[in-house]
Amino acid sequence: MGAPVVLGIESSCDETGAGIVRDGKLLAHVVASSMDEHARFGGVVPEIAARAHLHSFNPVVRQALDQAGMRLSQIDAVAVTTGPGLSGALQVGLSGAKTLAYAAGVPLYGVHHLAGHVAADTLEHGPLPEPCVVLIVSGGHTSLLLVRDLVREPILHLGDTLDDAAGECFDKVARILGLPYPGGPAIDRAAREGDRRAVAFPRPLTRPGDDPYAFSFSGLKTAAARWVEGHRLRGEEVPVADGAAALQEAVADVLTRKALAACRAYDVRTLIVVGGVAANSRVRALAEKRCASAGIELRVPPMTLCTDNGAMIAAVGDLLVRSGAEPAPLDVSIDPSAPL
Ligand code: KG4
Ligand code: ZN
Repeated sequence: MGAPVVLGIESSCDETGAGIVRDGKLLAHVVASSMDEHARFGGVVPEIAARAHLHSFNPVVRQALDQAGMRLSQIDAVAVTTGPGLSGALQVGLSGAKTLAYAAGVPLYGVHHLAGHVAADTLEHGPLPEPCVVLIVSGGHTSLLLVRDLVREPILHLGDTLDDAAGECFDKVARILGLPYPGGPAIDRAAREGDRRAVAFPRPLTRPGDDPYAFSFSGLKTAAARWVEGHRLRGEEVPVADGAAALQEAVADVLTRKALAACRAYDVRTLIVVGGVAANSRVRALAEKRCASAGIELRVPPMTLCTDNGAMIAAVGDLLVRSGAEPAPLDVSIDPSAPL
């Protein structure tokens, strides 16, 4: 018998993902997103997300099996995100995954969503260089992690955002600047025409004595709102491109500064950046520049693996199966606020 084939399911937020991995190799990767359905609300609506998962679950799994040229009977294990995430959304994925595992008569593995984000990189760049520092930056997370052994040791949670996630900050400020949702890509585009030194936005939690690995982005949103308001009160046109460029600079500066500080403090030679915000051109440029001058290897998986997907959950499942980990009982529950 060859290496086991693992089907991974992700449904913690607005993406329904199914992926298939065997021996660290990606065989299938399918994602359906309900992002467009949330656009007019300016953010993810939990009820809509849960319904969308129900709608997409079977077609997405079907497509993943087709992509791999496999039948359900050829799957050796099912891995599924149990948390953290939106409870209704998680429940749809977990129920579906249990049914598949039961029908196929194979073990089920519960996976922590953030472990999935970390493992995503292995599908592109091979085994995880451990220890490594991982920066997860998306609309839902801003976390700095120290990974010593992904499947055998708990991930060390170095820091998190105290308020908004970095992507959320981009989305909210884009709205203030009159740019479309999702705001991150819109700010990135607008910033190309702007001057990143035009506005001195704050660099939250970077003073001596501040928690070196905690983030805070809600103050940036307030600062951007005040800046826009100032222009309006003076009857001036808002220089949107400059605002976008300066905001992007502030976010990229804080993210990369703290990630590099973690690498230095824990004597780690590899930084991995994942999540939707890893697409940001300034975050990438600053990370590349700062890693290069510190002699640190930077790994950023391709965007389709950076954002929420089932392949990354299959990647963790594959590592768990191969390490001989215990499967989850079929009565396993979701853990919406799962700690690391
Ligand atoms: O990982 P992701 O697709 O979904 C989750 O949040 O789980 O990340 C989406 C977030 C959104 O907030 C979006 O605005 C942001 O990533 N984003 C970007 C860029 N592309 C996506 N932020 C800044 N610059 C970008 N180019
Ligand atoms: Zn995520």
